[in-house]
Amino acid sequence: MAYNLLKGKKGIIFGALNEQSIAWKVAQRAVEEGAQIVLSNAPIALRMGELNKLAEECNAPVIGADVTNNDDINNLLTQTMDHFGGGVDFVLHSIGMSVNVRKAIPYTQNNYDFTHKGFDISALSLHRVLQAAMKMDAINEWGSVVALTYIAAQRVFPDYNDMSDNKAVLESIARNFGYFYGTQKKVRVNTVSQSPTRTTAGSGVKGFDGFINYAEKMSPLGNADADQCADYCVSLFSDLTRMVTMQNLFHDGGFSFTGVTKEVIERMGE
Ligand code: NAI
Repeated sequence: MAYNLLKGKKGIIFGALNEQSIAWKVAQRAVEEGAQIVLSNAPIALRMGELNKLAEECNAPVIGADVTNNDDINNLLTQTMDHFGGGVDFVLHSIGMSVNVRKAIPYTQNNYDFTHKGFDISALSLHRVLQAAMKMDAINEWGSVVALTYIAAQRVFPDYNDMSDNKAVLESIARNFGYFYGTQKKVRVNTVSQSPTRTTAGSGVKGFDGFINYAEKMSPLGNADADQCADYCVSLFSDLTRMVTMQNLFHDGGFSFTGVTKEVIERMGE
């Protein structure tokens, strides 16, 4: 059901790769709620071509940007501002990648070149985007920025590898930049800590099936899916959450505050 929550609002959605992507669902929901959007992803992801389908559906231009490259980010923001004739009201950062995870290199044996690359893509990119946006005044007053994260930033999930560190920094950047952007322009910055979700990035984590099933049994409401995550992001882009900033917001069916569930205890006794 649509509520017109984003009527007249304009935004940038980073990270829609395919129909499973959380960003894909957010783009669809944002448009359904009346927003106009620009879609962005890394040039290599654009070459896969799937994003064109979403672009057509959402009537949105696609502007490539590798988020580790300042020129790409500046170009994206300039083109977006030309397209809309001004700044945007919301930004979704739905980007993550770890070469150590991809190559199944254990945390204790991480290759630091890979660590740097993953950190640049998954965490520092939020700072880059915010810094460029602030310089170019690309986000309107009372704008909203949301980045996606995972609870491995706070608790140990061994196979999440160096992405745990990346997420911890990402959340810290949201908090710190949120202070400055809030005082300067009333722009809010939050992270949404999402349940494990079957996507290209999610399924890349070793033992993902066990991971997602365990979370399902450890969450009173069950795992939150990508569509529900999109609903939550839309609420955070809307004017109904104007005073929420610098927060890490758990969207996980209660997982983060559950010590144990009856279901898990029963299984342990088997
Ligand atoms: P996904 O694989 O669909 O999205 C990741 C995106 O990052 C892709 O679109 C990819 O092209 C983009 N990307 C990678 N390198 C880039 C670069 N250099 N420049 C620009 N974009 C780049 O997977 P998903 O799951 O939708 O991931 C979105 C976000 O949600 C990520 O931050 C992820 O860590 C987070 N998240 C995912 C969970 C899951 O279980 N799937 C759980 C909690 C958070």
